[in-house]
Amino acid sequence: MRWALISSSLILLSSTTRAAVFRKFEELPTVSFDYIIVGAGNAGNVLANRLSENPAVSVLVVEAGPSDEDVLPAIAPFLALGLANTIYDWNYTTVPQNGVDNRAIPYNRGRLLGGSSTANIHMHQYGSADDYDKLAAITGDSEWAWKRMKKYVHKHERFIKPAEVADGTAKGYIEEDRGTDGMVPISLSTYRKPFDDLVLSVTRELPEDFPFNPDTSGGDNTLGLGWVRQSIANGTRQSSSTTYLRSAASRPNLFVLIETQVLKLLPTGNSGGKPAFRGVLLSSTNPSPNYVLAKREVILSAGSIGTPQLLLLSGIGPKEDLEQLNIPTLVNSPSVGHNFSDHIFVPYWYEVKGLDTLDDTFRQPDLMQAAIGEWMASRTGLIANGYSSQIGFFRFPSNTSIFDSTPDPSSGPKAAHWEMMFCNFWLARPLPVPDSGTYITLMTSLTSPVSRGFVKLASINPLDEPIIDPRYLTADYDKKAMREALRVLKRFASSKTFSEYIVGAVGSSGSEEDEPVDEHIRKNLGTTFHGVGTGAISPDNAAWGVVDSRLRVKGADGLRIVDASIWPFVPSAHTQGPTYLIAERAADIIIDEYQPISLHSILRFARNVWNSASFNFWGSSTSDIHVEL
Ligand SMILES: Cc1cc2nc3c(=O)[nH]c(=O)nc-3n(C[C@H](O)[C@H](O)[C@H](O)COP(=O)(O)OP(=O)(O)OC[C@H]3O[C@@H](n4cnc5c(N)ncnc54)[C@H](O)[C@@H]3O)c2cc1C
Ligand SMILES: *[C@@H]1O[C@H](CO)[C@@H](O)[C@H](O)[C@H]1NC(C)=O
Ligand SMILES: *[C@@H]1O[C@H](CO)[C@@H](O)[C@H](O)[C@H]1NC(C)=O
Ligand SMILES: *[C@@H]1O[C@H](CO)[C@@H](O)[C@H](O)[C@H]1NC(C)=O
Ligand SMILES: *[C@@H]1O[C@H](CO)[C@@H](O)[C@H](O)[C@H]1NC(C)=O
Repeated sequence: MRWALISSSLILLSSTTRAAVFRKFEELPTVSFDYIIVGAGNAGNVLANRLSENPAVSVLVVEAGPSDEDVLPAIAPFLALGLANTIYDWNYTTVPQNGVDNRAIPYNRGRLLGGSSTANIHMHQYGSADDYDKLAAITGDSEWAWKRMKKYVHKHERFIKPAEVADGTAKGYIEEDRGTDGMVPISLSTYRKPFDDLVLSVTRELPEDFPFNPDTSGGDNTLGLGWVRQSIANGTRQSSSTTYLRSAASRPNLFVLIETQVLKLLPTGNSGGKPAFRGVLLSSTNPSPNYVLAKREVILSAGSIGTPQLLLLSGIGPKEDLEQLNIPTLVNSPSVGHNFSDHIFVPYWYEVKGLDTLDDTFRQPDLMQAAIGEWMASRTGLIANGYSSQIGFFRFPSNTSIFDSTPDPSSGPKAAHWEMMFCNFWLARPLPVPDSGTYITLMTSLTSPVSRGFVKLASINPLDEPIIDPRYLTADYDKKAMREALRVLKRFASSKTFSEYIVGAVGSSGSEEDEPVDEHIRKNLGTTFHGVGTGAISPDNAAWGVVDSRLRVKGADGLRIVDASIWPFVPSAHTQGPTYLIAERAADIIIDEYQPISLHSILRFARNVWNSASFNFWGSSTSDIHVEL
């Protein structure tokens, strides 16, 4: 798509003023707060909201980027990719990737209020129940298991039922699983096109390969192809900023400092033999250094790149790496920045005939302007929705030969190995849109990958981009799995439904041989920007891992991580939903820790007793229920 066209039409939208947003450190009324949250992103704003619910507690959120207010591509869903490489992006690029012909791959991250929840492309799921159960198994903390985490779905989402329901079986949501009064409105596409019906009709034609999924939110029901859920309402983006942050903005105990980068964590003495980090150094135009202090704790929500970068800059990380840069090691934490785990994706383009695609809309400025005009007038149409209206989550059969050499890497039988997405146009990344012709783009993504990479410092300058090396396709399994996924995708493309329209595959992906297919994969592989793992959770006494099961940085005091980086493996879904759920539980953990005797803890005690009773009823053990007063 021609994003330049779109960014030239940045038109101011009506403003909603938010209170308590400061642009300069000097404007803050105090330098000391109960909690300091680093990063007003996907996770950070959840904490900002939940922690400031208690009016007796003061909360400061520090965000490097500017406000998201009036930023058209942050609001109009279809224009989202227009944020890339603007002042709202960190503009990261991976180091050249050996596995993909030494290409360096753009690694965008939102750098504005809402973080990547403001820059993402709106797809919203939670991941499989197995992902959460694996988290519980890894940490030994059963509170991370799905049966305990799914209550946060209801705190988090406010599902908007689609207005028109074509037929009962295809409505796209399971009523009783949906949240109705949570924080973030979630909807299904409101822009129906013939292509949607074709995609869904494949679920009826080839139900073995592409079963219909009545609700793609995840949990116990992850697999199959169905309507994708989008963090969109009334045709506008719903980010952590427009929801969690905005609804708390008028609280006098919540302070948001934007356009200010945290450069470093400050050591603030020792407690219990551990160095404490209850202060942060801030970037500033003022010549004297500026810092703020936390009475309770500092919470890192700077994301999977920003969080390890800040830890390393502050002397928390692998000793050898820190020594190389002459950074004194305050906490030797060998896993910081390691085990980076991400979802790779590859687009496959098919030329089509007789199908009304969007290619001409993107080629003709007046058509695009008309679409933007419709959105401006009524927040409807093409621009009011995301890029793919459906999503499919699939498993490889257990007898596939790829499991001969690598044990099944998925977190369990409910979790997907791979995923499909669908666009009725030539998705332009990384190849430019051809000047003529009509196309569809079918995409595969690996949801349970094996390759692991890392994030390291390039220098001690906090303003330098860190080294990002995801090591895409370095695991043999990932190469074979991408090939295998394409084999299944080809069954989709050659379905009776689609073979009526498809003229042929573009490029070498149509080949039956491995090498041309591998070449297409290497040339076109990208990321869905779901990196996690660099601040991984692990068992409390394990030598590996960065945080304990309550998300406290191991070896440090007064410091916690709450963002996507804590996932020790990438969940089998797009990562905003899993990040929201983690953050919701983290808020409960933090609130509980600081309320030793209160009505809240008494209620919690009563709730635990109730829960253990119901556990017994279902025949489960109660030994894993922790009751704390
Ligand atoms: C282009 C794109 C498309 C995506 N599409 C989807 C999708 O469709 N569905 C989905 O589920 N997920 C998607 N994702 C992934 C998802 O958005 C992220 O996994 C998730 O938002 C990460 O949340 P987080 O809280 O860990 O980090 P972020 O939301 O990135 O928050 C980190 C915040 O910290 C700030 N920060 C960083 N360093 C500092 C510092 N030193 N000082 C002050 N502030 C700092 C950042 O500016 C940012 O605001 C996409 C991501 C991108 C980039
Ligand atoms: C990203 O690139 C854009 C365009 O070059 C630039 O304006 C912006 O300042 C960059 N972002 C950062 C964080 O440097
Ligand atoms: C959407 O619009 C309706 C009707 O104007 C309004 O009641 C609702 O609050 C809006 N929702 C969001 C999330 O803006
Ligand atoms: C990476 O994660 C695995 C567990 O999945 C762990 O055993 C290993 O020690 C981790 N490596 C590092 C460097 O943290
Ligand atoms: C795997 O099992 C299915 C169903 O039992 C069978 O049809 C298929 O041929 C098997 N594939 C391989 C590679 O053995």
